[in-house]
Amino acid sequence: MKRAATRPPRRVLLVDDEPIQRLLLMRALEPLGVEVQEARNGQEVLDLLRDSLPHVVLTDLHMPIMDGLELTQRIKAIDPLLPVILLTADGDREVRLKGIEAGADDFLNRPVDLTELRLRVKGHLERRWLQEKLEDLERTLLALVRAVEVKDAYTAGHGERVAQYTCWTAEELGATAEELEELHMGALLHDIGKIGIPDHILRGDYPLTENEWRLIKQHPVKGDEIIQPLRAYPHLRPYIRWHHEKLDGSGYPDGLTEVPLLVQALSAADIYDALTGVRTYRKSLRPEEALEVLEEEARKGRLHREVVRALKSGLLRNRALRAV
Ligand SMILES: [Fe+2]
Ligand SMILES: [Fe+2]
Repeated sequence: MKRAATRPPRRVLLVDDEPIQRLLLMRALEPLGVEVQEARNGQEVLDLLRDSLPHVVLTDLHMPIMDGLELTQRIKAIDPLLPVILLTADGDREVRLKGIEAGADDFLNRPVDLTELRLRVKGHLERRWLQEKLEDLERTLLALVRAVEVKDAYTAGHGERVAQYTCWTAEELGATAEELEELHMGALLHDIGKIGIPDHILRGDYPLTENEWRLIKQHPVKGDEIIQPLRAYPHLRPYIRWHHEKLDGSGYPDGLTEVPLLVQALSAADIYDALTGVRTYRKSLRPEEALEVLEEEARKGRLHREVVRALKSGLLRNRALRAV
């Protein structure tokens, strides 16, 4: 029988300077079976957050030391995804707008409708739980990638190096902070589909048979399947699935002739790391030689020239390549 994952205890942090209000809210939350932590003001909250984070914060608006809006901002600076519910006076539109600006996730009118309070808190706890599960999954996948890499001394650290080169390249191409974050994750995970490939094939230290090549070429599709449950899946998908595509259609698995520029940044970084890394069957290339190979790829119409140029200037800027 499939057993549901046991949830660790959930904690709600109640912030109000009036003890009676805290008591009322605490009683209302009792049926949810959550642990309730209390704080009288923003400073107490910040002290508590230093030790550990609750799963939801429920805060009053008017309090001594700092008001609920400033507190919301301070909490969001610590963890942007920690749900904050603001208790506001009925219909106070101005305050709500300021609350949205401060990053509040939800509002409850005073006097508080206790049933609504329970439902809202429950909903936020559910979302927080899902988010934690997805983060765990991301961590697990990264650990798996490392486990695959260390099986072969020559590819150890490949994902991290490729992520670094890819981000340097993307910065030169003018990628936004959000794109860089997705790209970094996509680059770390790009070869995750190699998990199922036997070690001797991965090492590739002897000529591979046609069947073994076919198996290796499946890794972008396998990777695509593995990352499907991830929250960031739609954004990461092109990096995992298309990092072996080439502009002349000779790549795999989809034989594309149009490949997004940032995906090409990952392809270029991947090839660069493979060429500069040591393998048992060939000596590694110097950075300048590896870039020449990539320039040749661009001349043959397999990679955009601009991407190779960006990789080169990214390496120079970060002193991974010496200017001649
Ligand atoms: Fe790959
Ligand atoms: Fe790779």
